[in-house]
Amino acid sequence: MTQTLTIPTSLEWHEDYLLILNQQKLPNTVEYIKLTNIEEYYDAIITLKVRGAPAIGITAAYGLAHAARQYETNDLAEFMDLFQRDKKYLAGSRPTAVNLVWALNRLENVLEHISSVNEAKTNLLHAAVQLHAEDEAVCRLIGEYGLSVLKDKQIVMTICNAGSIATSKYGTALAPFHLGREKGKAFQVYACETRPVLQGARLTAWELQQSGVDVTLITDSMAAHTMKERGVEAVIVGADRISANGDTANKIGTSMLAILCKHFNIPFYVAAPSSTFDLSIRNGNEIPIEERTREEITIVGGTLISPENVPVYNPAFDVTPHELITGIITEKGVLYPSFEESIQQSIG
Ligand code: MRU
Repeated sequence: MTQTLTIPTSLEWHEDYLLILNQQKLPNTVEYIKLTNIEEYYDAIITLKVRGAPAIGITAAYGLAHAARQYETNDLAEFMDLFQRDKKYLAGSRPTAVNLVWALNRLENVLEHISSVNEAKTNLLHAAVQLHAEDEAVCRLIGEYGLSVLKDKQIVMTICNAGSIATSKYGTALAPFHLGREKGKAFQVYACETRPVLQGARLTAWELQQSGVDVTLITDSMAAHTMKERGVEAVIVGADRISANGDTANKIGTSMLAILCKHFNIPFYVAAPSSTFDLSIRNGNEIPIEERTREEITIVGGTLISPENVPVYNPAFDVTPHELITGIITEKGVLYPSFEESIQQSIG
């Protein structure tokens, strides 16, 4: 039987609900769930049913627009109070991915000149739909620029899932692989499993298989050996927040790959939309790093794998210093050092 190859997507707006692919259950179960109130949106984001910086932003935007539609007031001042309350609530769901606050601010901006509650409700939903559509176009461009730096048949490593299901479509770091396959290019991808939540094993391996990209799974600790023994020629990763000097927060383990790339003289690329840049902060030391529950590390498949009371440190992201980054692939082109200048010129 021949498998139909498709680039999977994870978000679909319907008249009165957002349909999301439940990423907690992949790859064994492909389940779509409906989000219908703000608590469900918040829960989906915090429990990683939907994850990845752009997808978090899009989901939060729909969540806020959806919640606002349910306010039962015609008083504009009261409407704005409820809006601010819910904006703050959603903004507190995950701290590192700046796309979340960026998306919520975009929604707030469309309320600047409104004169009625009805107009506000319409504008907010319209803004969420627009943001969702824009992200697909942006990711496609990132894919095109990614293809300009990666050569056909290259052996490329990635970590976490910065793919189609982490965005509206195509992804950021995985976009060149999806587009490359459509254009007849054949990359060989090594996906790090990405402990502790296994976005690489569960999501990237699944997503690339769905779209027919050649993918091989390794554990995170096999990265150095694989670079050397399998001749990895480039590393490409996503980002959750990039500061004005190019320092980049991404899934825990990313900076380890960048350090290895320096040792092996392998180019290290970050792929991210301009919504992931936070020019209000100068460097990576100012990026808030999310810490998650101990159970993500101590329990595997429902089984406790450590002493019950051992102290656990579980940072979900790390920061790669800009000195280790070869180029940042954005929808506006590929940025090179000095990042302070190229970021200011292109994004600022
Ligand atoms: O904790 P997650 O799964 O949301 O972390 C996701 C990542 O680190 C991604 O690389 C990043 O958000 C970019 S997604 C295009």
